[in-house]
Amino acid sequence: SIYSVSALILAYLCGSIPTAVWIGQSFYGIDVREYGSGNAGATNTFRVLGKQAGIPVMLIDILKGWTATNLAYFIGTSTTGPYNSIVFTNYALALGIAAVMGHLFPVFAGFRGGKGIATLFGMILAINMHAALLCVVVFITVLLITKYVSLSSIAAGFTYPIGVTFIFPVYIKSVIIYGMCICILILVTHQKNIERLLKGKESKVNLFKKKAT
Ligand code: G3P
Repeated sequence: SIYSVSALILAYLCGSIPTAVWIGQSFYGIDVREYGSGNAGATNTFRVLGKQAGIPVMLIDILKGWTATNLAYFIGTSTTGPYNSIVFTNYALALGIAAVMGHLFPVFAGFRGGKGIATLFGMILAINMHAALLCVVVFITVLLITKYVSLSSIAAGFTYPIGVTFIFPVYIKSVIIYGMCICILILVTHQKNIERLLKGKESKVNLFKKKAT
């Protein structure tokens, strides 16, 4: 319907808000894409500008995915005809992915965005909170052990389909299929990180800002 198409566009626009770029430019006068990993995401904002900028970018990027996914409620109430939780969930997933596409290819920042981890997290938080929290546990564990954000993101990404299949099962198959697609998407957006990880050249985070690595 016209509502679902408008909502998809709205979700894409929401994801397109280039939080890292705008916060960097507005408060620090720099484009984070010119420094560090060159990525317009929360991780690189932390790396380049510190936690005062990184935390708001992370939260807003999560909120983008969460909000876009929850736009399904508006389509839901605007839809006449057959409507059930499978249709609802499929809309929600499509809206979440539209936001992630916006984050990856933001219309407001020359289509050069981030890798979608925070926005994907917002999306899965809206779909299956328990599985999302399991992903957080895996993310933090891998980060504490390895200090690689990218590896933590990849590990958390793979946790999601496993979580929705076996640990906090969903009966709607598309959630599992999307979960698998998310893994592939994360591998694609993290290609350069994977190359660096394999060469031992990926940057590590200073979690407690004491020693240089
Ligand atoms: O959130 C993206 C993260 O997994 C990697 O970011 O800047 O280290 O490439 P970055």
